[in-house]
Amino acid sequence: MLGRPDPMLPRPFVVRRTRQDTRDTYTLELEPVDGEPLSYRAGQFTMLHAFGVGEAPISISGHDARTGRLEHTIRNVGSVTAALVAAAPGTVLGERGPFGTGWEVSSGIGGDVVFVAGGIGLAPLRPAILELVARRADYDRVLLLYGARTPEDILFGDNLRSWAERHGIVVEVTVDNGQHAWRGRVGLVTQLVARAGFDAVRALALVCGPEVMMRYAAQALSDRGVRPDRLRLSMERNMKCGVGLCGHCQLRELFLCVDGPVVGYDRLAPLMARAEL
Ligand SMILES: Cc1cc2nc3c(=O)[nH]c(=O)nc-3n(C[C@H](O)[C@H](O)[C@H](O)COP(=O)(O)OP(=O)(O)OC[C@H]3O[C@@H](n4cnc5c(N)ncnc54)[C@H](O)[C@@H]3O)c2cc1C
Ligand code: FES
Repeated sequence: MLGRPDPMLPRPFVVRRTRQDTRDTYTLELEPVDGEPLSYRAGQFTMLHAFGVGEAPISISGHDARTGRLEHTIRNVGSVTAALVAAAPGTVLGERGPFGTGWEVSSGIGGDVVFVAGGIGLAPLRPAILELVARRADYDRVLLLYGARTPEDILFGDNLRSWAERHGIVVEVTVDNGQHAWRGRVGLVTQLVARAGFDAVRALALVCGPEVMMRYAAQALSDRGVRPDRLRLSMERNMKCGVGLCGHCQLRELFLCVDGPVVGYDRLAPLMARAEL
């Protein structure tokens, strides 16, 4: 009888295409060498392995159902991510996973859905937005509030336009620093929450970005009246094993590789209230 595959063994995936999204961020399209597509839930991550360098937890930012290609959007911040974004087409990388919890966007069916993203945080949210768009009629008002550092750091511009123009999503983008040519909003994404048009009592809110931004966004959404169990954050921690064994990702009683990365605010709020978190 065949056993379950060893979660510590990377599966080979070949890089088919690399796209530069911004000055430091790239999207890789990867194809399974054995032809078996990776099945995952929106919000999950894999441990992506650059052979000879190391591995890092990277969210799945999309997939192509036709080709089975998996997409990862990666910001180059250190040795592993530098090796990953430099991988030319034909390079073989390793994938362990998928691991962790998902956004479960379908639990928002019948109500309003608010996505709040900061920087590269739009990448882990993208599969949830694509899942929603595929069944757009099942949801009521949908908003994407997105903050980037500068206009040049805005990710997935084509998606943002299509979600707004073709799928009736209210997309509000703001930047921390706008130059002369920028005609859009300047300011923090968390400030958009207070006056955004949604029915908080019936809303599902999904938040991903730097931890300080999520802290303020969660507070603002909570102040609007979004229920803590309908407000979910994607928490990033150092991860090694990805399967609840090593303790690297521990946040109090949570092992974020298995209890997260997506965690409800009902569980996180008491932990976030402690100053040292
Ligand atoms: C569940 C999860 C999903 C993630 N998804 C993505 C993704 O889709 N795209 C992406 O680009 N990155 C993602 N990350 C972050 C990514 O794993 C780290 O940037 C990466 O591990 C850095 O490795 P490195 O060797 O390149 O850099 P290192 O040399 O390890 O680190 C370089 C710098 O980045 C900081 N850093 C390392 N890890 C993190 C982290 N988790 N959060 C914030 N700062 C960190 C370090 O403190 C250091 O200052 C995710 C992390 C987690 C836990
Ligand atoms: S990464 Fe090892 S326990 Fe979570």
